[in-house]
Formats: sequence, C-alpha cells, structure tokens
Amino acid sequence: MLTEWFTHLTTACPPLVRKLGYLRESIAIRSRYRRCKTAWQPHLESSQAALLESLHACSDFRTALVFGSGLLLDIPLSELATRFENVWLVDLIHLPEVRRAARRYANVRCLSCDITGFLEQMEALSPNNLNLPPPASFLDNPAVDWVASVNLLSQLPLLPLDWLRKRFPGIDEVLLEEWSTQLMRQHLDYLAAFAAPACLLADMEQTTYEQNGEVIEHADFAAILDFEHQALAQWRWDIAPPGEIASGIGRFHRVAAVTMKCGRN
Ligand SMILES: C[S@@+](CC[C@H](N)C(=O)[O-])C[C@H]1O[C@@H](n2cnc3c(N)ncnc32)[C@H](O)[C@@H]1O
Repeated sequence: MLTEWFTHLTTACPPLVRKLGYLRESIAIRSRYRRCKTAWQPHLESSQAALLESLHACSDFRTALVFGSGLLLDIPLSELATRFENVWLVDLIHLPEVRRAARRYANVRCLSCDITGFLEQMEALSPNNLNLPPPASFLDNPAVDWVASVNLLSQLPLLPLDWLRKRFPGIDEVLLEEWSTQLMRQHLDYLAAFAAPACLLADMEQTTYEQNGEVIEHADFAAILDFEHQALAQWRWDIAPPGEIASGIGRFHRVAAVTMKCGRN
C-alpha cells in the first residue's frame, strides 16, 4: 500500500493522464502482477515468444514501435534492443522502474502518447458526436520497420468510458458499447495502416468462472469486433486466479498473437 502511494506521488505524469486514472491503473496492474506472478508467467512467456516469432516478417530493423509497453512484463526488451537500431516504447504511463529499465539501452526511448487521440478530443465530444479521427501518429515515419500492440486492445476504451459516463450522466449504454467497439476497430485499422509488419497481442475471449468450474460470464471480443484472424499463436492467460477478483471466482482470457496485413509485405 505504502509502495503504491509512493509511486503515485513520485511518477511524472501529465495531470490529465493522472486524472483519468491511467497512473492508478498502471500501479494496480503492477500490484496484481506481484500477487499473480506464477499464474501470469506462462502468458508473459508466450507473449514474448510470439513477439520474437513475428520478427521473421521483418526485412529491416531500424525502428520498432511498441504500443502498450506498460510495465514491460510481456516485452522481450533486450532482444528488441539488440535487433533494432531504435526501440520506441509507447504508452500513456511509464513508471519509474520502466524508465530505469529503458535507460540501460542507449537505443530505447519511452514515448508518452495516447494512441487513440481521445485525450486531445475529449472536451469536444458529446453524446451526439463521439467520433474520434482515425489515429495517425507515426504512420508517416518511413523508418518504422515493426509495430507491436501488446495486450492493450481491450483496455483502450475502459478509462475513456468511465470519463464519458461521469461527463454525461445517463448516457445511453448501447451508444457507449458501439463507441467502444469502434475505438478498438480503429486501433486494428491503425495497425494495418503501417507499411511494416504489425503484431497484435490481444484478448479474444474472457471467461469468468466459479471455483467448481461453472462459467458465469463469457465475452467473445473477436466476435464483437467482427475480427477474423489467423493466429500466429493462442494461449490461456489466468489473469485472475480464484480469489483475486472475488472469493471463489476466477477469470481467464484467451489471448491471440496476430500478424496484421500491411502495405509493404
Ligand atoms: C494491460 S497493459 C499492457 C501490458 C504491458 N504490455 C505490460 O507488460 O505491462 C495496457 C497498457 O496500455 C496502456 N494504454 C491504455 N490506453 C492507452 C492509450 N490510449 N494510449 C497509450 N497507451 C495506453 C496502459 O497505460 C497500460 O500500460
């Protein structure tokens, strides 16, 4: 608790990012990881292996862009720093230990960036117009030779939705659901728009279950997104072993690694 509070006070972070809860969430993920380390390990190893496997699609190794780099738990940072001339870690939040880890490599940079454009547009949004322009950051950089979106897709709408509900009390939940699907689709289109191989690691399904194995909730994100894909690899992530979210309740995700079609290949 004390460590969390200390990190909250000492992490450099734009006020709006802090206000929306990104710093709080990042600290919460770190705490959950510390509690669930053993259960998460296979997922983290599979994620790193899939990212390395996807490098076979690269013909040049100038700049690697990593979206949702977060705590770097699922990123093979040392291998990426060896293979690429530059590695750019893109996230809204880089905790102090992440910045320290990045500083060990002369060619790794932490970039603070909202890859949805929500923060820039949020004050102009209204229930009658929730449209966000398609994201375009980095698309014009010809030196980008590989892009990764790492366990980020399903997270993209969560804090923006909290803000929209507070800002527009009583806003239609169906509208918000459509908006959230649209935001995730825009991210998929964004990845596909790069003239470089892009590897998406994302939750395709989420299952919540009772300790006796009975399923109490199931969400199929791939179906909601109408996202047809051929997975490079798939695995189960025991994101919340029984007891983590509630007594006797557990949750796992089906994660897939997908190579997005790109202009160059
Ligand atoms: C579940 S974490 C990904 C796990 C991360 N790869 C790790 O190893 O810790 C999702 C990350 O996405 C970031 N994120 C969420 N929305 C974002 C946005 N709009 N732009 C950039 N990063 C975002 C969060 O700050 C968080 O670090």
